[in-house]
Amino acid sequence: MHNLKDLKLAIFGAGRWGMNHVKTAASILSPENIIVFDSDPATESKIKSVNNQITFIKYPGTNNQYQDFNLAVIATPVETHFVLAKKLLEDGKHILVEKPITLKANEAKYLLDLSLSHKLKLMVGHVLLYHPAVNRMKEEIENGKIGNLQYIYSNRLNLGAIRSEENSLWSFAPHDISIIQYLVNANPDEVIANGGAFIQKEIEDSTLTFLSYPRNVKAHIFVSWLHPFKEQRMVVIGDKGMFVFEDSLKNEKLKFYKKGFEFKNGSIEKFESEYEVIEFPNKMPLQEEHLHFYDCVLNNKQPLTDGKHAWEVLKILEQATASLKKL
Ligand SMILES: NC(=O)c1ccc[n+]([C@@H]2O[C@H](COP(=O)([O-])OP(=O)(O)OC[C@H]3O[C@@H](n4cnc5c(N)ncnc54)[C@H](O)[C@@H]3O)[C@@H](O)[C@H]2O)c1
Repeated sequence: MHNLKDLKLAIFGAGRWGMNHVKTAASILSPENIIVFDSDPATESKIKSVNNQITFIKYPGTNNQYQDFNLAVIATPVETHFVLAKKLLEDGKHILVEKPITLKANEAKYLLDLSLSHKLKLMVGHVLLYHPAVNRMKEEIENGKIGNLQYIYSNRLNLGAIRSEENSLWSFAPHDISIIQYLVNANPDEVIANGGAFIQKEIEDSTLTFLSYPRNVKAHIFVSWLHPFKEQRMVVIGDKGMFVFEDSLKNEKLKFYKKGFEFKNGSIEKFESEYEVIEFPNKMPLQEEHLHFYDCVLNNKQPLTDGKHAWEVLKILEQATASLKKL
């Protein structure tokens, strides 16, 4: 395989989020090279309204067009990810699996090992690592703009889609954990979580998770689908300045505040100035994620959100769950 024309992509699951994968793939690849597999036959008309040259196949089904692709996106509900991902890797397909990759860290590790032994790409849809604002923050942190990292927090709140197979922690926090892991570039020494289940028994609607990293870096993540308005805010604090990334805003999504404290003449003094808006390229994160997946497959590159990254995120989710459920 040398170029995009060689790619034949399968998309498993074209529900609320999977349809975004279908539209994104159709904006990059030839529609005749896209096959959508979904268990619900009613999905076919939605697919055909994107482009009627996209093939639809009911899956699981009897049709044997199954082998006609070389890479796949899995956007089915999380409880189906492991079985489907394992089958696709065993069949020699490169895969991009939606977050969370599985419901157990040992299953994520199994998929990671399988992908390595079959020399196949395993990527997870931690789409925010393809957000140009997150990439810009990472670059600026590496350039020393905020000095030494100290504290990160993330609020991902909305009156959102309630799930019954996973709680708000597993549904939302993979995004926040993956960004924090990317920015800190380490694994936490300690993970503590608390939360509350109000709508469905034992499925937490709101959770608060604390992470302690080496070199005295601390973080917390507050996620909820039981919240009066949408807020996606990440604050990254260093000893020379602070970033605020608010993806839920229309404008000025990424700001830099030169604020903090410094030792001067033997005392602690505050420094502060007006914020500066940080510009970033106007790119669609999901489109960047697809382009990266195709580039990794065609040019044998390591995905940014690879199986190891996915496994590390799952280990943190399991540690948070053990703390939350007081196991
Ligand atoms: N990256 C993101 O920002 C983001 C956002 C939302 C959802 N997600 C993830 O995407 C995945 C799907 O979420 P959703 O909200 O689209 O779910 P959904 O329930 O809306 O859609 C799932 C689709 O999969 C189909 N399906 C179910 N089992 C199947 C199977 N075995 N084979 C083929 N098709 C099957 C269903 O018919 C449905 O069309 C989840 O893992 C979710 O966490 C990611």
